[in-house]
Amino acid sequence: TGIVHVVGARPNFVKAAPVVSALRERGAHQSVVHTGQHYDDRMSAVFFRDLGLPTPDVDLGVGSGSHASQTAALMVGLEEEFTRREPGLVVVYGDVNSTVAAALVSAKLGVPVAHVEAGLRSFDNSMPEEINRRVTDQLSDLCFATSPEAIGHLADEGVSTDRVHLVGNPMIDTLLGNLDRFDADALRTRIGLPESYVAATLHRPANVDDADNVARLTGRLHAIADQIPVVMPVHPRGKAAFDRAGLGHHPGVQLLDPLGYLDFVALTRGASAVVTDSGGVQEETTILGVPCLTLRPNTERPVTITHGTNQLVTEDDLVQALTKVLDGRPESRSGDDVPPLWDGRSGERIAAVLSGWVR
Ligand code: UD1
Ligand code: UDP
Repeated sequence: TGIVHVVGARPNFVKAAPVVSALRERGAHQSVVHTGQHYDDRMSAVFFRDLGLPTPDVDLGVGSGSHASQTAALMVGLEEEFTRREPGLVVVYGDVNSTVAAALVSAKLGVPVAHVEAGLRSFDNSMPEEINRRVTDQLSDLCFATSPEAIGHLADEGVSTDRVHLVGNPMIDTLLGNLDRFDADALRTRIGLPESYVAATLHRPANVDDADNVARLTGRLHAIADQIPVVMPVHPRGKAAFDRAGLGHHPGVQLLDPLGYLDFVALTRGASAVVTDSGGVQEETTILGVPCLTLRPNTERPVTITHGTNQLVTEDDLVQALTKVLDGRPESRSGDDVPPLWDGRSGERIAAVLSGWVR
């Protein structure tokens, strides 16, 4: 009975926090199942500490693996857990393997599923996340959309509009709710950051899984570091490859372990620009007014380009695009043109709808 939130990977925690908190205020009966897809302290526990998320009721400890083996282990673990808990509703977040596995298991057990961050599409099935998004949305009884174009994407795929709710972006609730805790100066002193710098974060398979590609990217990042220091918290996925390519050998490159949420957003906030392939970082920079160069051929988050500070760049354009941005950094924006409903109240909107489904 009650609402079961399924989380497993870094971005899930940031999205779930405001929903769990808004439901708590409504006195909802809820529990949090951690799949264990991410398990290092810096990829998982630090987010629970930073965000005041309740300790998960259970951690399934699924860990890493190929897509098939990880998804299979997630499904077996979740099926046992749901059979024991008999949830009234399962809430899944974003587009990771934990998301689609939980949606599949719930749907087959006849448990209603709600998908937070539904309808985003890159139209690029070479991204594992795009497959996860499509399947999850098909199986979801409730689709919570962060931006208006998602509604059209869902309609095109036959998802009936009465299942879809435009609620804004819970990741931005978390950002706005913690604004006075992102202290770039304190971080600068604590970890020895340069006065101005570019922050970088890369983890998409298309960028970091191939050694030649990583070697080329390393060359580009070194070219940036010739102009301005580059600070990069390294996701475990690309760590070995970037180490082999000698990324840290340039004196202008500062490599860090993955940062906790408060430290990472402080790093972002203090940066002259961000180079990334993260989904969430495109959204956070949009609200923080920090220029964002996204090293991808497409984005499932086009509002960050139309309403934000994001631009897509190829590896070949990267250095030139960055030089341009550094030459004319836009003033911090007024906030008038942020995407609709990215106002810090998405968790409440989601909780209001969920409360109507489960007592
Ligand atoms: C996953 C998501 C991706 C999301 C990213 C957020 C899928 C298919 N991908 O990618 O959409 O953007 O999380 O960060 O779900 N590892 C560790 N410690 C950890 C976790 C992972 O060392 O705590 C290493 C392991 O070597 C593992 C690799 O990272 O094999 C990849 O982890 P995995 O969860 O499979 O995918 P991510 O690349 O993290
Ligand atoms: N993030 C973090 N520490 C880092 C890198 C990212 O706390 O070292 C945060 C970031 O601010 C955002 C979320 O993690 O809230 C995004 O997760 P990630 O980039 O891993 O996944 P994606 O959004 O690409 O799925």
